Amino acid sequence: MASLPANSFDSIVTDPPYGLSKQPNMREVLKHWLNGDDYTASGGGFMGKSWDSFVPGPKTWEQAFRVLKPGGYAVVFAGSRTVDLMATSLRLAGFEVVDMLHWLYGSGFPKSMDIGKAIDAQDAVAERRARQDRDEGLEDFALATAGEMTGGRAEGSDGLNSPRSGAGRTGGARNVHPTVKPTAVMRWLVRLVTPPGGIPFDPFCGSGSTLKAAALEGFNAVGCEMDPQYAAIARAREEAARCKKQST
Ligand SMILES: C[S@@+](CC[C@H](N)C(=O)[O-])C[C@H]1O[C@@H](n2cnc3c(N)ncnc32)[C@H](O)[C@@H]1O
Repeated sequence: MASLPANSFDSIVTDPPYGLSKQPNMREVLKHWLNGDDYTASGGGFMGKSWDSFVPGPKTWEQAFRVLKPGGYAVVFAGSRTVDLMATSLRLAGFEVVDMLHWLYGSGFPKSMDIGKAIDAQDAVAERRARQDRDEGLEDFALATAGEMTGGRAEGSDGLNSPRSGAGRTGGARNVHPTVKPTAVMRWLVRLVTPPGGIPFDPFCGSGSTLKAAALEGFNAVGCEMDPQYAAIARAREEAARCKKQST
């Protein structure tokens, strides 16, 4: 992101790391951030992923602020547990917080109840659609096992069904990213903050849900992703969406 020219993008739509490791010492975090350093959390974040161990610090958001055109809006996802940290980091980087949107969804994550499974018939259809959405354009990618989808948990183990691991994740998917966002949600957000003909930017694009959504809305988006496996998935999903858009 540091190599991108200033004022390049009309909007930012991004789903950054939520920082779901253990609760941080807030005084330590602020000491680092006010000194212009990064705070390093110990332990992994969501599903043990090291990239999720802490929210991006102000130094990173300063780069996002720099590449966003003046007056541009950023839609930034955050987890309920660390939304205060995300907002503070954004503010220290120069962003103003103007509103908060809530995305409420039923899935296997809250406590021990898989709400989706409680509505069985709808669940199967919804899951099939969600998988199609995640895997569209990835026909040449290998199918992952359920263990691979949950960061290495053994097939058939209790851990595979733990709410913390993304309860009931099954194998046979090609998009191995653990936090893929639904295209319908991302399309709405991209439309919400991007002016006609504008360029949306996603500095943490993962498997490319923002890029796919932008392509379907007719925007040329740009994304950054540090993991080459996720970046390859993002490119393929965006390309498939672009072809689909052209053929309609
Ligand atoms: C929450 S995920 C985004 C998932 C995405 N919304 C999707 O639908 O696939 C955040 C992503 O940011 C990436 N990431 C974390 N720190 C990064 C950095 N400094 N530069 C680029 N990518 C980073 C991680 O590898 C991860 O894929």
